[in-house]
Amino acid sequence: MEGPVLPPKNYQINRGFRFVDDYLYCEEIRVCDLLSSKISGQTVATPLYVYSKKQIEANIDKYKMAMMRETERNIQLSYSVKANMNPTVIKLMMDHGLFLTLVSGHELRLALQLGQDPQRIILNGSGKMDWEVELACKRGVLVNVDSAFNLRQTVRICQQGGYVATVLLRVNPDINPDVHGYVSTGQEGSKFGIPGEELDDVLEMAVKSERIRVVGLHCHIGSTLTDSHKFRQSTQVLVDLYQKIQKKIPEMQILNLGGGLSIPYKAQISLFEETKQMLDLEFDKYKDQRVLELYENLLNKRITLATFLESIKSLPHGIEICLKLREQLPAEVLVPEPEDLVKTVCDILPPNTIAILEPGRSLVGNSAILLSRVLGTKSSGKRNFIVLDGSMTEVIRPCLYGAYHHIELAEPSRISSHVNSDNQLTVVSDIVGPVCESADFLGKDRQLVPPHTGCLMAVFDTGAYCSSMSSNYNMRVRPAELLVDGDKATIIRKCETFENMMFCYTDCSQNSENES
Ligand code: LLP
Repeated sequence: MEGPVLPPKNYQINRGFRFVDDYLYCEEIRVCDLLSSKISGQTVATPLYVYSKKQIEANIDKYKMAMMRETERNIQLSYSVKANMNPTVIKLMMDHGLFLTLVSGHELRLALQLGQDPQRIILNGSGKMDWEVELACKRGVLVNVDSAFNLRQTVRICQQGGYVATVLLRVNPDINPDVHGYVSTGQEGSKFGIPGEELDDVLEMAVKSERIRVVGLHCHIGSTLTDSHKFRQSTQVLVDLYQKIQKKIPEMQILNLGGGLSIPYKAQISLFEETKQMLDLEFDKYKDQRVLELYENLLNKRITLATFLESIKSLPHGIEICLKLREQLPAEVLVPEPEDLVKTVCDILPPNTIAILEPGRSLVGNSAILLSRVLGTKSSGKRNFIVLDGSMTEVIRPCLYGAYHHIELAEPSRISSHVNSDNQLTVVSDIVGPVCESADFLGKDRQLVPPHTGCLMAVFDTGAYCSSMSSNYNMRVRPAELLVDGDKATIIRKCETFENMMFCYTDCSQNSENES
């Protein structure tokens, strides 16, 4: 017997991803087709990271456009490689002229190997090993000095090697960014940056040493920022200090303002009803046909809230509508845009400075999904579980920070009648992986059409801090990564193998031979 069915999903998520009749597309390719065809002569399996090149480029463009509008200002964009260190992604950033912000010697080796000009590299880190500082100083990389001990270490290494280090001093502005404690970095008590009371001593030491050239200041108050005012506050602290210090060190020129802008992880959530209520009250005012059409599309789930806002901006009353929504919707749904970030600091930047922005997440976060297959479904007590082949080893953010990643079926469910005992078309389930940890969940209490076993599901916004934080826990291999460009897909990272995983272990087969 055929039961009622939900209308198919047909909407644009961003430049990279859209649903057409319940099938998820990355650019011009149906993601389910990625698994059935040969890519670069190989087949790929789930779990699998799928990246959209167009979306990465759209993210870069947003920053560039925002920077270009501020013609009076010299702003440089520096990609924080820790968000995603896939060499193809780094190369793309380099091809678009971005600097690179790094946090380790191996990231530095990779950047140099990819041909990045050392003068367009910044090495950060609250603790650096001697070889990392040595490599940076030898190659003329800009070093973010994070503490008194880091400065002493840099002086020592430069004396030994005969180098002069070009440095920024990372200060702690003591500002609460209102983010998860694990990604908050600019408050008193944080391990990052030079505390206010130590700054004078560190400065004196730096000025006295002929091995150190202080060219500016740096701060970064945290990640997943949803309030651009916090960014302005930290920049103001930095600017005040800069102007004070410049009297002592007139050649100072650089203000590195950090990164940290969040992305709208919850923009695909069903906020349509709330949005409707909010806007319906006012909508009579907005008679423009294009505005009404967009609104229609939003309500019929043909586009996401993020797409709606992006498109409406340039239409009559568009800004007004955006502002209204921003006032009322939860912060994580409507995060500021790069443009807001740039605007919020530009008027306080001193003339003739070079400002650096070093975002990671907002350049790559929304450019990828983790494509995963349903291994089965089960219930325990009152909870329903959808068990995927993807897990916390590929997307650790939900377990580590309680982070939200949107999850959808990436193809139509083959379960014919979706109606459950409560006459509902959807079921509330936890989406979990196969790892032996109760912390292994990708989403909790998600309302979804029940998927069949083998159904493909997509975990969204996995371009930042997912692959780069992945692990081999439970001896799981790290997945392959694909980059889609129009109707072409390329493998940009092969799936690890058992042999790759065992490579560094001393062979135990000999021991077992001895034992026998
Ligand atoms: N600059 C500095 C000095 C940083 O420490 C970071 C990130 C960034 C820039 C880039 O921040 P973004 O624009 O990507 O927010 N694993 C966490 C994020 C840790 C971020 C650490 N620092 C997560 O998954 O949310």
